[in-house]
Amino acid sequence: MAKKFYIETLGCAMNVRDSEHIIAELTAKEDFEATERLEEADLILINTCSVREKPVHKLFSEIGVFNKRKKEGAKIGVCGCTASHLGEEIIKRAPFVDFVLGARNVSKITEVLHKPKAVEVDIDYDESRYAFGDFRTSPYKAYINISIGCDKQCSFCIVPHTRGEEVSIPADLIVQEARKAAKSGAKEIFLLGQNVNNYGRRFSSPHEKMDFTDLLRRVSEIEEVERIRFTSPHPLHMDDAFLEEFARNPKICKSMHMPLQSGSSRILKRMKRGYTKEWFLDRAARLREMVPGVSISTDIIVAFPAESDEDFEETMDVIEKVRFEQIYSFKYSPRPLTPAKDYAGQVPADIGSERLKRLQNRHAEMLDEMKDGRIGRVVDVYFEELRPGGRVAGRTDNNLLVQAAGSEELLGKIVKVKITDTNRLSSEGVVVA
Ligand code: 5AD
Ligand code: SF4
Repeated sequence: MAKKFYIETLGCAMNVRDSEHIIAELTAKEDFEATERLEEADLILINTCSVREKPVHKLFSEIGVFNKRKKEGAKIGVCGCTASHLGEEIIKRAPFVDFVLGARNVSKITEVLHKPKAVEVDIDYDESRYAFGDFRTSPYKAYINISIGCDKQCSFCIVPHTRGEEVSIPADLIVQEARKAAKSGAKEIFLLGQNVNNYGRRFSSPHEKMDFTDLLRRVSEIEEVERIRFTSPHPLHMDDAFLEEFARNPKICKSMHMPLQSGSSRILKRMKRGYTKEWFLDRAARLREMVPGVSISTDIIVAFPAESDEDFEETMDVIEKVRFEQIYSFKYSPRPLTPAKDYAGQVPADIGSERLKRLQNRHAEMLDEMKDGRIGRVVDVYFEELRPGGRVAGRTDNNLLVQAAGSEELLGKIVKVKITDTNRLSSEGVVVA
């Protein structure tokens, strides 16, 4: 009888894809099958995030619970970014953990499984040409890694220390994977990397010269691919050629993530982001001008060390000017191994909370203004998920979440839907064709 594994995934889309790779390895090479019930699992995995302090705390409380609830003899493995960052310290702090597997060592899952107290966290390990199995959580949308690691040295960010140096995956492998996924029904391809539009900067074996714009073109040539999304691009690398391809190519979904982090050029410099407020505003304006209906999302950190009231007002000013469709906002969290944790002028927590609240309240008002024009519009929705109560959910090209009455037969189809009701981030509709 197959053994069972239970897996919990925290963090970003890269982690979601890493978990899919882990599942593929366990089911193809080890005769495991997935379970949703922790108590019956022979192997319990947690794929962790270390970008802020909170998820790290969460990890230790969570694995404590796993240890209490697990069946006798079941193994516990800690994977992902916190595994890379803390390594054997995890086993010291939680001796019941059986192995630790870093975010850049995913292909070693079937090895560590059989080595008591194994710690595999080498951030120089090259998995860029490893042929993982092709397990996917959704048959309709295919996440595909295009690079691993990150070469940027943003002063707040721990990721270069957990995912290592940036290496691009050869284009032929990406195209092959996209073709296979699309042929088996995934109309949407979601390209993933820490810094996607820096694609082609370094390969681990000889490769033709190629950048992200070229790669987008190559993927869009696959006939069965109807939608292409990607995350995360870096505002610094949003050159004209990239924006033009984004605007021109009908298969590229008109939704762009532009992580601002701060609207103050002075703070951006201290963050080592490589662009100014003016550059960011210019790129966003260009994008709105070239792509009518585009939605722009962003990440913002408030209360970075030495952020003054004036600096914060600069961030608020960018929000007014760009009118982002979605904002992921965070209070600065000092991270080990990063230069910013030692910067002078750490901002008191209550000021950080106030700034975060002000930003989020103002953005909520803006979303209320934006949503008004939506009702009555007919949009194309790619339905991907069943929801309780005979409903289905999917997204428009520009990333609006839409739900409608319907069942399985709508899944995997792009359908016209008339919006009948809407709140800030999702809408209700009826299928019209
Ligand atoms: N503190 C708060 N937020 C952070 N992020 C990254 N590092 C930190 C940190 N130390 C945010 C950034 C990034 C997103 C994934 O997480 O906004 O874009
Ligand atoms: Fe993803 Fe960054 Fe969290 Fe790692 S630390 S899981 S790369 S968000």
